[in-house]
Amino acid sequence: MITNLLVTLPKAKAWRSEHVFLYKGFWLSSEVLKGLVLIHNHFTPQPTDIFLAAFMKCGTTWLKALMFATANRHRYKLSDHPLLRTGPQSAFPFLDTHIFLDYPVTNFDHLPVPRLFATHFAHGLLPTSITSTCKIVYVCRDPKDALVSKWHFLSKLRSKELEPLPFNEAYEMFCNGVSEYGPFWDHVLGYWKASQESPDKILFLKYEDMKREPTIELKKLAAFMGMPFTAEEEEEGVVEDIVKLCSFQNLSRLEVNKGGGGGQKFTAKVVVENQEFFRKGEVGDWKNYLTEEMKDRIDNIAVNKLKGSGLML
Ligand code: A3P
Repeated sequence: MITNLLVTLPKAKAWRSEHVFLYKGFWLSSEVLKGLVLIHNHFTPQPTDIFLAAFMKCGTTWLKALMFATANRHRYKLSDHPLLRTGPQSAFPFLDTHIFLDYPVTNFDHLPVPRLFATHFAHGLLPTSITSTCKIVYVCRDPKDALVSKWHFLSKLRSKELEPLPFNEAYEMFCNGVSEYGPFWDHVLGYWKASQESPDKILFLKYEDMKREPTIELKKLAAFMGMPFTAEEEEEGVVEDIVKLCSFQNLSRLEVNKGGGGGQKFTAKVVVENQEFFRKGEVGDWKNYLTEEMKDRIDNIAVNKLKGSGLML
């Protein structure tokens, strides 16, 4: 079925595999396109489900940890927390590929309520049964840092049968909107507009704000999830404790997130070591990769694409 669909779609060179396919305005690998079809045909959302959505490399790992720790703060002690043993990637399913791990369709009934799911799919690609029913937390990031992070990540996962993808070529492709789940700007804009229309349904966060003021952003997140911190919890320092538990410094040093500690199976062929989700965790690493001219070009694209939307990146 998916093979029949793929032959009808425009394709382009990809960053990880050989090709990505243009489906309803977004470039997707054949694997996640299959996942999308399964989500549309087989996934039944519950009104209490909360989704974490993000373009690749914009903060999924961090938000996974924060959402899981916040939602389950009455179940686990912070000193002996499952995140410390399993790492954030295992905290809840990445729906795009998890949906078909137990082929044909994985059952999610065992998950505690609220069920948490992560996705990289654009807002317009998700079924309306999800977007009209469930809360969605979206995290975005400076596209220049997302580009650099994505190039590092996908270069590691790139099929060994393919030539490495030089950074400058990835940069060109990114500017032209061609990368897994891209174009970046359409992705961000879709969620931004939806968050403006339904702020109670979509919380729009920025990686840079979270780095600058993590406790303020975490309180916002908890309130949005319907689990605000009580005055008592705030006095006891629970917010700061969760921020510390989920910090890059804390999570990246854990055995499970170091070489050989553990991995995530995305598809039968794609298994990613946990350590690959922790690189630098900084704002502005793009300065080590982009010339002034390259920076200006991306900034101008962002200004043009986001013009009139009220969103600044
Ligand atoms: P860098 O490659 O710039 O270091 P994602 O989780 O969406 O795949 O994004 C990965 C990016 O988030 C990587 O960025 C990674 O280092 C960073 N990251 C992972 N865990 C983090 C955390 N707890 N706090 C801040 N950044 C984190």
